[in-house]
Amino acid sequence: MSGEQRRRRVGIVGYGHLGQYLVKRLQDDGLQHRLELAFVWNRDARKLEGAVPAELRLGKLTDFLERHADIIIEVAHPCIVQDNGESFLQAADFMVGSPTALADLGTELKLREAARRSGHTLYIPSGALWGGQDIQRLDDGGMLQALTVMMVKHPSSFRLGGHLGELAQGAHQERMVLYSGPVGRLCPLAPNNVNTMAAACIAAPSLGFDGVKGCLIADPNLPDYHVVETEVTGPGGFSVTTRRKNPAACGAVTGTATFAAFWSSLLVCQGHGGRVYLC
Ligand SMILES: NC(=O)c1ccc[n+]([C@@H]2O[C@H](COP(=O)([O-])OP(=O)(O)OC[C@H]3O[C@@H](n4cnc5c(N)ncnc54)[C@H](O)[C@@H]3O)[C@@H](O)[C@H]2O)c1
Repeated sequence: MSGEQRRRRVGIVGYGHLGQYLVKRLQDDGLQHRLELAFVWNRDARKLEGAVPAELRLGKLTDFLERHADIIIEVAHPCIVQDNGESFLQAADFMVGSPTALADLGTELKLREAARRSGHTLYIPSGALWGGQDIQRLDDGGMLQALTVMMVKHPSSFRLGGHLGELAQGAHQERMVLYSGPVGRLCPLAPNNVNTMAAACIAAPSLGFDGVKGCLIADPNLPDYHVVETEVTGPGGFSVTTRRKNPAACGAVTGTATFAAFWSSLLVCQGHGGRVYLC
């Protein structure tokens, strides 16, 4: 097979909502985009039985090299990024589905360096972030002064423990601000809920996880959609505000449009060299 016709081989790490969606899209539509499955791994391998052909199942994640993936996608948990991201990047491009993992400075620096050294790309999917590339351009030009990302969901759509979980529980009657402050401090408290904020921090490296402000709100009046608002500020009174309404089943952590957004992000991942790339 000539180089031009070669399909890109995709490894999927995690077989929950997003993993199952991506596997199905790859099986249904992969060929027309010159993509094919290299492997699927899940912490509980039984979940793959009867759902994924045996030859595509990966038993031990550390055996991923045998499958010669061109791109590996994490859709499992931030700890997979922290523990395996560096070795994935040594062998392949790597799309981080749980970018809250990068709020840990050591992890972010380690993965940036692994991408630079290997020439493989660290991809961050935009998810529910609107205008990420515009934010990035403003940042590149040294003109980004402030960035706030506000996420509003029904209290049952949060998966929170500790103090934030208690606050969300109390928000079934009225709208409540669960957190307002630097995104970096929020990520470890709400790792599954604020990936969109984390993507914004990557789009805005001059502000980063300490400088981008996050605001998390529980609102009982939003039973079937999530809202993401971004407010971007630049010099001389420049500002942009966006509001994205994402339909979501009652109690769902992930909005419906986010699934298709992940697929679109994967189609962008054609190899952009040794750097971080918002896709
Ligand atoms: N970037 C974004 O915009 C965005 C949007 C939605 C979800 N996410 C993130 O993507 C990931 C997957 O989301 P999902 O909706 O498919 O979740 P899910 O709960 O449906 O599936 C997660 C899968 O990963 C596995 N898993 C859970 N904890 C694990 C661990 N510690 N080690 C290994 N495997 C583990 C589970 O067994 C499950 O198969 C989550 O981390 C979520 O926060 C990101």
